[in-house]
Amino acid sequence: LSIGLSAQVIYGLGEHLGPFAKPLNQWKRFVLWNRDAEPNPDRNLYGSHNFLLAVGGGGRAFGIFLLNSNAQESHRDLPNYRGILDFFVFVGPTPKDVIQQYHELLGPPMMPPLWSLGYHLCRFGFGTLDRLKFIYERNVKINIPIDVMWSDADYMDGFKDWTVGAEKYSGFDTFIKQVYSQHRSVVVIVDPGIKNNSTGYLAYDLGLKMDIWMRTADNKSYIVGAVWPGDVLWPDFTHPNATLYWQRSSNEFLLKYPVDGLWIDMNEPSSFYQGSDTGCPNGNPLDFPPYVPHIIGYNILYQGTVCPSARQYLGSHYDLHNLYSYFEAKATWQVLRTRPDGQKDNRQRQFVLSRSTFPGIQRFAFHWTGDNNADWYNLRYSLSTILSFNLYGIVNTGTDVCGFNSATTEELCIRWTQLGAFYPFMRNHNSLGLPDQDPAAFSPIAQQIMRYHISLRYAFLPYMYTEFYRATANGSTVARSLMEEFPNDEETWLIDNQFMFGPALMICPVTVEGAVDRQVYFPPSARWFDVHAQYFAEVTPKGLQTVPAPLENIPLYIRGGHVIPMQDPGNDTYHQKLLQPFLLIVAPDADGLASGSLFWDRNGVDDLSLGNYQLMEFSASKGSLSSRLVHQFPIGVQMQLFGLQVLGVATKPANVIVNEWQEEAVYVQQRLALRQQPGGGGPQESAKGQLELTDISARVFKSASWQ
Ligand code: GLC
Repeated sequence: LSIGLSAQVIYGLGEHLGPFAKPLNQWKRFVLWNRDAEPNPDRNLYGSHNFLLAVGGGGRAFGIFLLNSNAQESHRDLPNYRGILDFFVFVGPTPKDVIQQYHELLGPPMMPPLWSLGYHLCRFGFGTLDRLKFIYERNVKINIPIDVMWSDADYMDGFKDWTVGAEKYSGFDTFIKQVYSQHRSVVVIVDPGIKNNSTGYLAYDLGLKMDIWMRTADNKSYIVGAVWPGDVLWPDFTHPNATLYWQRSSNEFLLKYPVDGLWIDMNEPSSFYQGSDTGCPNGNPLDFPPYVPHIIGYNILYQGTVCPSARQYLGSHYDLHNLYSYFEAKATWQVLRTRPDGQKDNRQRQFVLSRSTFPGIQRFAFHWTGDNNADWYNLRYSLSTILSFNLYGIVNTGTDVCGFNSATTEELCIRWTQLGAFYPFMRNHNSLGLPDQDPAAFSPIAQQIMRYHISLRYAFLPYMYTEFYRATANGSTVARSLMEEFPNDEETWLIDNQFMFGPALMICPVTVEGAVDRQVYFPPSARWFDVHAQYFAEVTPKGLQTVPAPLENIPLYIRGGHVIPMQDPGNDTYHQKLLQPFLLIVAPDADGLASGSLFWDRNGVDDLSLGNYQLMEFSASKGSLSSRLVHQFPIGVQMQLFGLQVLGVATKPANVIVNEWQEEAVYVQQRLALRQQPGGGGPQESAKGQLELTDISARVFKSASWQ
């Protein structure tokens, strides 16, 4: 099927590595077939999302989603689809409307637990628990804010799911409890392939007993693949008993090792055999269809995976391949919700991270983008992938910070940590045999810069958390392109090396080795305030500008018209949540108006349906700010507003009133005074700048005004 698109630029059609926008005037082919492949341009990768957002004159937009789980390809120039054609069309008219309409169809993304928005530390190849502990502790010791310590497959006994290596990981249960006592979390990996011929191993015995495995085309035996443990059988997660199987095989493990989340990997599914241990049956048309999209691996559908002719409960693997991770994620999410340890209940948010994806998976899993390389290209285009996954509704996405394959460098890792601090999901992860790349592995200066940027993330967490709430409640992106916020401004359409987190924060990473400045496009229709400028200065002139970007700082701007809730950063979200007071940054637009909101809750994990959260809205007009409680905690929770900063105040106010009483106001020009900012930067009095009110101990903040 070919369609003519009345648009100038399209986005989507992933998962692929490369630019975010796809101009329509170049011929290009986009192939979708879930595949374990290192991200490189023009490859089919781990997920398939045949959704496109099309934008044309005046920023008018529409969207098209092809709901199809087969191997498929779209050609651009003349968009051209081949396959079963089950289309949804979204009429916009703005890009935001299209995204919301698509997300409504898919169902809302899970609200992440608050702890999972902190910093995550991981690597393949810790080898032993002692080494993992050492890395964890050395980063805690130098005050790197950290919320989650991960274990890759190192912890397993012979790479078998739901087992722990007796010697190398003895005491893992005690370690998990120790991490919990520090109010941090542990996540471990599980792969779908279950070691074959391993009688006496629960996950294997139970699978046989429950007859849960994927079968060969002739239905005579189970299909055999190979992954880390050697030969494996594959649970068929479309089977009605699959969730029960997954629960029963994991119960004992979860009782002893009460991890906070599960990381599901190799779930394209990825196999080291081509099709199976015996290949794929000769001549089966599902394995050798008459037309094969131009996938990597010599256009053979079963390269690095299971034979498409394999049988599953719901049909052939040919139809279900791209859905393998979807069903696995759903079962895994269910396992966590019904876990046996009594510590969690089914009214809490869960954490599942999946490499492979399909539309709708965001109801059960978050996503990281697989085995990127530690190079500047992968840093640069990580942003396009994250923006694209936000279009697909999988808003909580990140790439391996500092890069997974090959050795990173100090400079690359600093730049990646700076950008990663504004990824929706931030995890440092690298591969087997490579040098360490946790912050403590680098020089004191590098540590300081990394600490500062991770702290910056924690400082913005109230704002970020609120944006996740909006995405869950309304259907929206979290990390978004400038095009989405400024669709009328054609200059924004192709920009993918700077982006917005929510509507109010613009992040402009440095992705070029050795660069100490960069070009930034400041959409002229907004006011922009420079977070790092000594005077929190308003940016003038606007349009395309070269800005300084020394290694110490990622260029970061607040957009006028918004109120941003912040907190003094803690070393973990638990203590920050309980102890740190809030700060509101008011950045007025050209008319002196600003608005914003704050979502906050008591424990950061309850299902939203329980209503255990507070939602406040702020609105500022010239000289005053007021707040409104939209949703209140059922039980009183103390939220202290400690400070209020109003940017762009032209003259020193004569008087200030907060909640009807007179307050001392400080009129300052200063940097965002985070505890850990390199070089400090205390308040400086001056004649022009911003209004800062500190020590507003108001349990319910109603209003403030200044004249
Ligand atoms: C896969 C994953 C990677 C993980 C490795 C070992 O390559 O993508 O993140 O470290 O397997 O489990």
